[in-house]
Amino acid sequence: MKIRPQRPSPRHSRHPSAAERSAPVTDPQHHQDGTPVQITPYDPNREPPGLADPVFQVSDLSVFYGDYEAVRDVTMSIGHRQITAMIGPSGCGKSTVLRCFNRMNDLIPGARVNGKIAYHGEDLYGDHVDPIEVRHRIGMVFQKPNPFPKSIYDNIAYGPRVNGVRRGLDDIVEEALHQAALWDEVKDKLKDSALALSGGQQQRLCIARTIAVKPEVILMDEPCSALDPIATAKIEDLMHNLAQQYTIVIVTHNMQQAARVSDRTAFLTADVDKAGVRHGRLVEYDLTSQIFTTPQDERTEAYITGRFG
Ligand SMILES: Nc1ncnc2c1ncn2[C@@H]1O[C@H](COP(=O)(O)OP(=O)(O)OP(=O)(O)O)[C@@H](O)[C@H]1O
Ligand SMILES: [Mg+2]
Repeated sequence: MKIRPQRPSPRHSRHPSAAERSAPVTDPQHHQDGTPVQITPYDPNREPPGLADPVFQVSDLSVFYGDYEAVRDVTMSIGHRQITAMIGPSGCGKSTVLRCFNRMNDLIPGARVNGKIAYHGEDLYGDHVDPIEVRHRIGMVFQKPNPFPKSIYDNIAYGPRVNGVRRGLDDIVEEALHQAALWDEVKDKLKDSALALSGGQQQRLCIARTIAVKPEVILMDEPCSALDPIATAKIEDLMHNLAQQYTIVIVTHNMQQAARVSDRTAFLTADVDKAGVRHGRLVEYDLTSQIFTTPQDERTEAYITGRFG
């Protein structure tokens, strides 16, 4: 099924070069000694237990940039108020899949989504669905903290103000900063520039800014990769607390982090087709404890034990 083609804009389009797509990366289909990796096809019917009421149901999702199929046939469900981690080698399509959950790919000229993502059973890409509303309900935190060049207060109040909220902003700001475990550190300097905060504080500010519009889901794309271990630990603690109220999907390169914070883990990798073009695939999706102790697919095992990627 083809869903809403995107308007191409040569100014922004960035197609991977042929060299980029066929770059000789570590071959995920062979062991280093040349013996072929035994490939067990991912069976979407063998969903991890406990997903009776999923927030998202992704079926046969493929994502194209121009005519390049970056991600192929992803089928998975995201559990309510759970933390789902996506791991896998660079370029396997983690960010691409993550961006589909709140239609951020709509903003990339040339990006196109095939397949289906249901959000509480409703087609997220249906004609009647407003992508702006989608992004309010499904917020995103990026790799690099990106506070606006405004005060701490105005950063948090920004989203509610855009939504027309005029009263009770002080309470909204305070609650969001509490939830993001930042209140104690900034309560006496709410009018100071957000840019004066440390990187870890800026990232918690961005989480607070996301929370302030009361989303249901928070998507996080490598939210700790620019942070030191102490700031990372704070964000991980925060995620545990947030998961009581929000559904979280996190992309991380840090496998310890995936193992520490998530309930379920999806492992993606890039298959190389006959023409030498790489396509991201979901290899295995299961309870995090299963993925890290008894993975079913050799490629997952190779990745989590550091043998490729
Ligand atoms: N805006 C874009 N235009 C064209 N191709 C893109 C675009 N964004 C990503 N791609 C390509 O899609 C593939 C998947 O990229 P993606 O960024 O989703 O990977 P990733 O798993 O998040 O990698 P990383 O771990 O390095 O962040 C790559 O081949 C990449 O070059
Ligand atoms: Mg990425």
